[in-house]
Amino acid sequence: MNLPVNLHEYEAQSRSRLAAMVEAYYAGGANDEVTLREAPRAWEELRLVPRVLVDVSAPDLSTTVLGTRIALPVMTAPCALNRMAHADGESAVARATHALGTIQVLSTMASESLEQVARATSGPKWFQLYCYKDRDVTADLVRRAEAAGYAALCLTVDVPVLGRREREVRAGFHAPPGISIANLEKYGNQAEKLGGAPQTSGLASYVASRWDASLTWDRVAWLRSITTLPIVVKGVLAADDAVRAVEGGAHGIVVSTHGGRQLDTVISTTRALPPIVDAVAGRAEVYADGGIRRGTDVLKALALGARAVLIGRPYLWGLAMDGEAGVRHVLELLRDELTVAMMLTGRPTVASLGRDLVA
Ligand code: FNR
Ligand code: LAC
Repeated sequence: MNLPVNLHEYEAQSRSRLAAMVEAYYAGGANDEVTLREAPRAWEELRLVPRVLVDVSAPDLSTTVLGTRIALPVMTAPCALNRMAHADGESAVARATHALGTIQVLSTMASESLEQVARATSGPKWFQLYCYKDRDVTADLVRRAEAAGYAALCLTVDVPVLGRREREVRAGFHAPPGISIANLEKYGNQAEKLGGAPQTSGLASYVASRWDASLTWDRVAWLRSITTLPIVVKGVLAADDAVRAVEGGAHGIVVSTHGGRQLDTVISTTRALPPIVDAVAGRAEVYADGGIRRGTDVLKALALGARAVLIGRPYLWGLAMDGEAGVRHVLELLRDELTVAMMLTGRPTVASLGRDLVA
């Protein structure tokens, strides 16, 4: 088989490598999947206005996130249970992101422990946090992330309840044998294996029983009181919420629809991003995710004010196709496409990307 030449081909070719239930979980979105379908289209439909006769002989894709230099303004988003795509799991993703000089945001719901993944590379890494009803569990996850050398905590705030992903329900999604939520294993005898039943999502039941739906902005303050790590709030779509995050001490914000998996028919990241960038006004870094499939999508997000973007499903496709090498190739494709896009827009550095590139 020929190597995929773009992320769309990764999506198509990886499908047959995943068990039907896993594919339903990875690919699905909430309800009618309006937001899921809209995300890549929304980036695609933005039109670029290039500038010509600029010296683009030495393009530089590097930037910084929370003070750490990264070679590529694309990070890998926290996605649950990577070992369902490939036995090498989250560690393979860590090695691939490190090879490309960027950062993996490891999920609380990883299928390898955060300590194990931390040992896979010496590169910078962030930990994504879900808040458990048992605050001691949440606090212990934070302490472990600090001890293992994670450089930031990414608090995901758009899952007080799991969106109803009908593909997941139809497939009776549960964790396959041998796969569990490794970070949670040490906290006693509660099953962390995501059990299932016909016509229900095992994940939806898990979230309802374990995660704290009473979370408010106070929890950001609580988090700040127990850690010195910078906090990134993920899953913000309204400018007033972005301001609350900044005033609560967040160092970063991820503008995200959670890959169309939570509330269907929400505003797209493309439309939510500019007013959030304006409202935050440089007081925190703003990142964006959802539907990024092309180098031009990355360029557009940066032009609209994102510091960097995150990709979710695309690296799962790469992982399913060829483990670490597949994730690396997905990132290389985006890097190479972004390089060409920056040269063709006459903007050879990340700092030179601005809103005047988008019609
Ligand atoms: C996710 N996402 C997610 N987000 C998070 O904060 N914690 C998590 O554990 C997960 N798990 C997860 C699993 C799967 C299978 C997917 C597809 C997504 C959301 C993820 O971080 C990101 O916001 C989206 O995936 C971005 O959209 P794209 O790139 O998948 O279109
Ligand atoms: C998901 C959760 C785990 O999107 O964030 O599946």
